[in-house]
Amino acid sequence: MRHSRTVKVLRLILVAAGFVLAQVSPAPVAADQILEKQIAEQVENLLARMTLDEKNGQLNLVSYGDPPEGQIEQVRTGRIGATLNVVDPRLVARYRQAASESRLGIPLLMGLDAVDFFRIAFPPPIAWAATWRPELGEAAARAVAMEAATTGINWTFAPMVDISRDARWGRVVEGAGEDPYLASRFAFARTRGYLRGGLMPTAKHYVGYGAVEAGRDYNTALIPLSDLYDRHLPPFRAAIEAGAETVMAALNAINGVPATVNTFLLDKVLRQDLNFKGLVTSDYAAISELLHHGVATNLAEAGRKALAAGVDLDMEGEAHTRHLAAEVAAGRVPVSQIDAAVRRVLSVKFRMGLFESRPAPVAPNESETRAVARQVARESIVLLKNEAAALPISPSVKTVALIGASARSDFDDSWYGPAQMTRPPTVTLHDALVSALGNHQKLAFAPAFTDACGKTLKDPHEAVAIAQSADLVILAVSEDCEFSGEGTSRTNLDLSPAQQDMLDRLSAVGRPVVLIIQAGRPLTLAKPALQADAILFAWLPRTEGRVALAEILTGAVSPSGKLPMTFPRSVGQIPISYDVLPTSRPPNHNRYTSRYLDEDVTPLYPFGHGLSYTTFAFANLRTASPSLPRDGSILLDVDVTNTGSRPGEEVVQLYVRQPVASRSRPLRQLRGFHKVKLRPGQTETLRFELRAADFVFHDDGGMPQIEPGVIEAYVGGSSAATLKTEFRLE
Ligand code: NOJ
Repeated sequence: MRHSRTVKVLRLILVAAGFVLAQVSPAPVAADQILEKQIAEQVENLLARMTLDEKNGQLNLVSYGDPPEGQIEQVRTGRIGATLNVVDPRLVARYRQAASESRLGIPLLMGLDAVDFFRIAFPPPIAWAATWRPELGEAAARAVAMEAATTGINWTFAPMVDISRDARWGRVVEGAGEDPYLASRFAFARTRGYLRGGLMPTAKHYVGYGAVEAGRDYNTALIPLSDLYDRHLPPFRAAIEAGAETVMAALNAINGVPATVNTFLLDKVLRQDLNFKGLVTSDYAAISELLHHGVATNLAEAGRKALAAGVDLDMEGEAHTRHLAAEVAAGRVPVSQIDAAVRRVLSVKFRMGLFESRPAPVAPNESETRAVARQVARESIVLLKNEAAALPISPSVKTVALIGASARSDFDDSWYGPAQMTRPPTVTLHDALVSALGNHQKLAFAPAFTDACGKTLKDPHEAVAIAQSADLVILAVSEDCEFSGEGTSRTNLDLSPAQQDMLDRLSAVGRPVVLIIQAGRPLTLAKPALQADAILFAWLPRTEGRVALAEILTGAVSPSGKLPMTFPRSVGQIPISYDVLPTSRPPNHNRYTSRYLDEDVTPLYPFGHGLSYTTFAFANLRTASPSLPRDGSILLDVDVTNTGSRPGEEVVQLYVRQPVASRSRPLRQLRGFHKVKLRPGQTETLRFELRAADFVFHDDGGMPQIEPGVIEAYVGGSSAATLKTEFRLE
């Protein structure tokens, strides 16, 4: 169908830039209002012409079914409004064509989990957060979206913005870690990136999925309202402000009510408090799974409840296609409820510009995409420990023993969706290191394990033998290949027994040992930290990452990644995070204090930790005025000096604390950071600006509070920062 009044694709660009523009100029707001009015009219126009079946079709989100002919016919008859996993460009074109041939010609939302790769595989989002450079997160998201958009799809199920303090939960790999401030900065950046790459982002999983009890995926979450607002909602707010028009409801239950039927969370919190105007999709089969949650006796009831709560799209739940018409006929579902959902779906489709003919997406330049992937890897790798300057590999090292089958493997844990897609060429760590080492330096290699996953030892003796005749030993291990992402909860986060066994043998050899770990989450490394001289935590480096790793090993690049999650000493410390409340009995040697009998209370590596090949000093933390007015801001300056002998980058982190308030406030909260590059001996003064809004917290009823009082500010290279100043919040 043709629309007499057009809404320009420009809207997408406006949305992408809207947050910043709205701050500096009222003009785009006015433009937005006109656009909104036009869209509302077009939506009503369309709605008035739709049959009930066509309306239900708009709420139907289906996953690719092979063979596709049946689905394509359903699209043509207006029975499907959105797809996921249709990615072969020829098929995408056929689905789109069918939609344009349907009676009303309503275009499809065509989605995919285009999170951190389409073809070139990027390190995962937890690694993006470890760069502490949101602009790199934006560039990565944009590059991934651009690759995926060339298929003709228009929607991604990313960013995942769930906060988690629990490394047992395998999905921490998809998020930005434990901290709401860092995660919000990345939620905003990633959302903009996907948008700019041509895909509509989805903020997921709404909300509290990262707080599943005991780290068990899909488990229930219990979250006090104060914590919901202070910890879990900020990244969703940021993603919405950045232009996310779709939100995915989580699969689990929050405070006893599954997210898919949680009227309070979807209506009061999301649509009212967060002012979300877009559409909500269920997660995969989430509506049918309401039966397992025990909140519906049959699929018809499940669909009814989800719709009433405010879930618009039914992803593979089949509730609406099977039952909605009959529910309406029986008077159990008012058409007005269906209309409200369809209105939101159509509005999003209009705002995305789907009704306009759009130029075909431009294929990204592969070398530019690779360059972003390489940069993310470079800046995300965290040097956890480096005793006696074991790294970088010194020119005096003549022979390096590289041990571990993963170092000779180009296995990427990422999956390659479209069957016709070829994997991009990549380099193993072994080969990258051979090219990066000096001509006079020799690399000896032993796989030690039967495969890259490192579960079983193959020939430890060969490995020990090459270690004995080397000057430096590098043991490269990766978390078991199946151990990242959805459905990968664990109760044990140690290296595999075979990997630990190998490390035991190598550390007995008496040469310096460098441990490289590839994993998608914090692991418990207390024992390896005593054995290895240096530890590099490389996340999942993927297509370009092993070259980045070799650059770091040889010193061409100095590490600058910082932990976005606390590394516990043992699983028993989990959940663990830096932003804890004070206790009545701060831990000390006394038994009757907040401590463990068998474990330290401190983490192995704190949030924000990460070493460089140089060192940094922080001094003169100062404020220009003694107080922060309620309606103003305060500036804090600090001098940062590179005190070592190499150039390097430091993430300068600002933490605050309100020591006395009406409720206990966290011992530390991140409120700013700068990543700065300094030459040896160079000093730079960095400035942070704090506003009263940075000190808002929520009470038991979820109401925002701000209280006058003393504020402590700390600046340093991790959450253990000690340089301190104080001011008053008026
Ligand atoms: C289930 C996952 O929870 C969600 O994150 C994903 O987007 C959907 N499957 C679709 O693949």
